[in-house]
Amino acid sequence: MSTRHFLTLLDMTPDELRSIIHRATELKAMRNRGEVYEPLKNQVMAMIFEKSSTRTRVSFEAGMAQFGGHAMFLSPRDTQLGRGEPISDSARVISSMVDVVMIRTFSHTLVEEFAANSSVPVINALTDVYHPCQLLADMQTFFEVRGDIAGKTVSWIGDGNNMCHSYINAARQFDFQLRIACPSGFDPANKLVTENQNRVTICDTPEEAVAGSHLVVTDVWASMGQEDEQEERMEQFDGFQVSPELMDLAAADALFMHCLPAHRGEEVSEDMLEDPRSVVFDEAENRLHAQKALLEFLLVKR
Ligand code: CP
Ligand code: NVA
Repeated sequence: MSTRHFLTLLDMTPDELRSIIHRATELKAMRNRGEVYEPLKNQVMAMIFEKSSTRTRVSFEAGMAQFGGHAMFLSPRDTQLGRGEPISDSARVISSMVDVVMIRTFSHTLVEEFAANSSVPVINALTDVYHPCQLLADMQTFFEVRGDIAGKTVSWIGDGNNMCHSYINAARQFDFQLRIACPSGFDPANKLVTENQNRVTICDTPEEAVAGSHLVVTDVWASMGQEDEQEERMEQFDGFQVSPELMDLAAADALFMHCLPAHRGEEVSEDMLEDPRSVVFDEAENRLHAQKALLEFLLVKR
């Protein structure tokens, strides 16, 4: 079988995605029971980070260690990646020495090029366009707390960014309706919306998007790489904050998620993360379990 990569949620079938998140919940229970399970003994993951990270780095590194393997942090600052060595050469060399590669970078095409030249699985740990690992954790969290998400309504409020794009892919793969409310000029990629018209609706206001929804999600207004726009965006995104008052328009059992890090007082009110409807810290912990299930899927069952 040829090497499987995980660059977007569309790299897996809906059944495969469901089996990964169910397995994530099993792995979580095993860890909570203190069971030692080391299916990746002697295996090595290269982690290439061109952008900052807390959750992604800690979850992959801890996950590899818990699985009996090892994770190696590589920064472009200290490798030849930052000095212009071609991606294709870097991919051939790195993949000849390790068992799996994780990349967080700006350009999505860079990750695709790396994968095309890699002899081992490549995982997208966030690009400017997609953040599929976060969606594994988000879906795992919804399934654990509320059950199957198929047929439910999810609302995306704020920037039509990498997370929003991954929610569009998730709507397709997990079969839910996604209502998106973004300020004018910040909509998600038109092509992605058009291709998923049967599951995605662009709404005029956050209130319209949230009405009766089962899950409300937001993210920072300025993503990594957009720091220069932060101030301007604060004005442009006025009215798009998720607060307990906005959540009151959603379904009675609605959940709130945010991939974190959050900016309290901007995309979320000061009190939103501590609201009983917020599951953001379970969601963050599930990055560990979901990515362990992903690693097991890619490396153990091939
Ligand atoms: N949610 C997320 O990917 O967090 P980090 O940027 O801390 O990895
Ligand atoms: N949209 C955010 C997500 C961070 C996890 C960013 O790209 O910075």
